[in-house]
Amino acid sequence: MLEKIKAIQQEVEAATATTIEQVEELRLKFVSKKGVLSQLFAEFKNVPPDQKKAVGQAINTLKNFALDKINSLKASFDVASGQDIGLDLTRPGEPVKPGTRHPLSLVRNEIIDIFARMGFIVAEGPEIEDDWHVFSALNFPPEHPARDMQDTFFIEKNPDVLLRTHTSSVQIRVMEKTQPPIRAIFPGRVFRNEAISARSHCIFHQVEGLYVDENVSFADLKQTLLQFAKELFGEGTQIRLRPSYFPFTEPSAEMDVSCSICDGKGCNVCKYSGWLEILGCGMVDPNVLEACKIDSQKYTGFAFGMGIERIAMLRYGIKDIRLFFENDVRFLKQFESAL
Ligand code: DAH
Repeated sequence: MLEKIKAIQQEVEAATATTIEQVEELRLKFVSKKGVLSQLFAEFKNVPPDQKKAVGQAINTLKNFALDKINSLKASFDVASGQDIGLDLTRPGEPVKPGTRHPLSLVRNEIIDIFARMGFIVAEGPEIEDDWHVFSALNFPPEHPARDMQDTFFIEKNPDVLLRTHTSSVQIRVMEKTQPPIRAIFPGRVFRNEAISARSHCIFHQVEGLYVDENVSFADLKQTLLQFAKELFGEGTQIRLRPSYFPFTEPSAEMDVSCSICDGKGCNVCKYSGWLEILGCGMVDPNVLEACKIDSQKYTGFAFGMGIERIAMLRYGIKDIRLFFENDVRFLKQFESAL
């Protein structure tokens, strides 16, 4: 029996194939159900008990050897047949292009990073809001024009349900839940009932900021915003605060940055003024603190809010706000290498 196994082993060793069909013939001959090896296993029961161990081992070794040999012959034909049909397996693959970040995400992330370095955390609130969080708690008098149907999307059946018109609503949500110190920014999407044009859209994005603690002053506000402007638009950037009005801040201001395109000399982007308006800000009105059960005798705070589209348009020289929402890849892929 051992002789026979040895002979078969030699036969397998010597076997070659020039076509895949010949490999198949070898497989049928040696390792298929009716092949030589199956016969050996069948004869194994007749082997005298004292030889069983040695013969068993030899058959198993032969079986593994035969399987390896047939598999490797087969593999060499797989590659060869690939080449036959003109497949070049050494050719580098097609590069897979990863997606790109949306310019609004790039600018939002940059704003978040700058404020994070100054210790501001990020919080978010709902887009579907109620009158209290969007207007009443923010000290809007009942007749204030911003509550007008023109600006706000209300739900017909329930005028208390509306789409937030600004992210200032998140100030209220955070102050209702947390006592000072509070230092946070609130990025998010807002909605206004406005006609869509190159300059305005009914959906856009804002970042709101809030800092409430003991002894927070207007000087803190100014320094924080100056630092922000320098990091966003460059070290040489200057800021200018103009008095303004918002119901939720007193005093209120609008902030301009020196035009980074013409360095303040005057160009068509800054309408030859040398300045660009980028945000509203002010000291949190004590009425707002009280509406959130924060002691306005003990605490003061500042707040600010800016539009992300506006900053992105200045940053990248984009002239039409609608481009942000059209998802045209020819527009989007231009930001591949940005940041
Ligand atoms: N909520 C204002 C808007 O949407 C922006 C704003 C102005 C936010 C002044 C503030 C602020 O926090 O102090 O136009």
